[in-house]
Amino acid sequence: MRYSLTVCLIILHLITEGTSFPGPPLPDIDTCTPRGGTCVNDTSICVGFTDTWALCRNSWTCCKPAPSTTHPEPPQPDTDICGKVTRIKIKHFLQTSRIVGGQFAEEGEWPWMVSLDDADGHFCGGTLISNQWIVTAAHCLERKVIPEVNLTLGEHHKVVMTGNEELVQIDTWIMHPDYIANVPGIPYDIALIRLVHPVDISDHYIRTACLPISNLTNIDDINSDCYISGWGSTRGTADRRHLQHLNVSIMSTASCNKSWEGDILDSHICAGNGNTGSCQGDSGGPLVCNISGQFVLYGVTSWGDRSCKAIGFPDIYTKVASYLPWIEKVIETHNDVEQNLGEIMGSFIRKILDIIVDFLKKSVESFTANK
Ligand SMILES: *[C@@H]1O[C@H](CO)[C@@H](O)[C@H](O)[C@H]1NC(C)=O
Ligand SMILES: *[C@@H]1O[C@H](CO)[C@@H](O)[C@H](O)[C@H]1NC(C)=O
Ligand SMILES: *[C@@H]1O[C@H](CO)[C@@H](O)[C@H](O)[C@H]1NC(C)=O
Ligand SMILES: *[C@@H]1O[C@H](CO)[C@@H](O)[C@H](O)[C@H]1NC(C)=O
Ligand SMILES: *[C@@H]1O[C@H](CO)[C@@H](O)[C@H](O)[C@H]1NC(C)=O
Ligand SMILES: *[C@@H]1O[C@H](CO)[C@@H](O)[C@H](O)[C@H]1NC(C)=O
Repeated sequence: MRYSLTVCLIILHLITEGTSFPGPPLPDIDTCTPRGGTCVNDTSICVGFTDTWALCRNSWTCCKPAPSTTHPEPPQPDTDICGKVTRIKIKHFLQTSRIVGGQFAEEGEWPWMVSLDDADGHFCGGTLISNQWIVTAAHCLERKVIPEVNLTLGEHHKVVMTGNEELVQIDTWIMHPDYIANVPGIPYDIALIRLVHPVDISDHYIRTACLPISNLTNIDDINSDCYISGWGSTRGTADRRHLQHLNVSIMSTASCNKSWEGDILDSHICAGNGNTGSCQGDSGGPLVCNISGQFVLYGVTSWGDRSCKAIGFPDIYTKVASYLPWIEKVIETHNDVEQNLGEIMGSFIRKILDIIVDFLKKSVESFTANK
């Protein structure tokens, strides 16, 4: 009955699931054509990607942007702060539909979302946590080899390109050393992926989620404004090529443990009612909660009921807070290696920089002291 949410997927290109429903009435204006877009009535294109910055007259369904569309993006103050969504949402194209039972995300709504593909297509999600590191589930990387995995940031629709995608190269990945496949409860289901090059995380479409500050924040106390996102199976509830998201409730570990016959650990988070939620292909993706306007990565999608529709069987997420020391150590170790190289290469330049930094630090200190 239990399964990991990764499992091979049917080739995405062949699937068009579900339907869309019109939103509330809109102003009858055309801001699409002047921007080089095309107003279309083809629902399959509208479900795939629309220019959410532009409106079409009411007799048309949606605005298909010109390939070279640049959006009149709002400014991004303090812009590489984690957990911030910097795109303004224009909810003119509402679709209620369903991850299983989810809704269509807007482009840029979950900018830390990462897509993992291999030759068979999409197989897992991940979360960008710094300009060079991604968190995913360990089981996602089983039997995979780096050269055969494509990792895309800024992904929105698996087939329709929006121009904000960035295919990035993997330097290395590190599965938790205690992770062992097929142990009941799938403990230690967490892994880190390092990119070859740091990416720009001050974009609207590629940004980081925050890590929990410590394991002191009790996830059971949050229980609101938490979301999962992914391109996993929707069990026929929507077009999964288009990123789906769902507002989920955190469930009590005690009752979750009862449902799952004692397989739940302190290093797990249970979420959802089992009827809606994560499904195959969502593994490794984020469970984030909005803490005072910043999205914090509390969970990594790990496992659940195979049917994705079993009421009373919440989905299980790896509790990120339980692995903070491990995450910090892995990142530090890798950064140290790089820094040491850098020191050998440029010890002279570094000395001069140190003098400048020292000087700046002193002036900052005295400035703050005078306030
Ligand atoms: C688009 O489709 C709607 C509903 O099917 C229809 O009422 C409308 O006339 C169509 N618009 C055009 C311009 O064809
Ligand atoms: C990775 O992406 C490249 C460029 O889009 C593509 O040619 C290649 O087939 C992809 N490989 C996999 C394993 O998806
Ligand atoms: C998400 O769900 C929680 C309760 O489960 C609710 O308090 C919150 O308002 C919901 N947020 C949105 C945006 O729907
Ligand atoms: C879940 O139940 C098992 C068996 O009763 C127990 O060993 C385990 O500690 C429980 N997990 C949690 C998180 O309480
Ligand atoms: C996050 O929470 C803050 C309040 O703490 C709220 O103002 C904001 O709209 C929320 N953001 C999202 C995207 O739900
Ligand atoms: C939480 O952090 C404290 C101190 O860092 C540590 O002793 C404790 O084992 C941690 N708890 C969990 C569940 O990881």
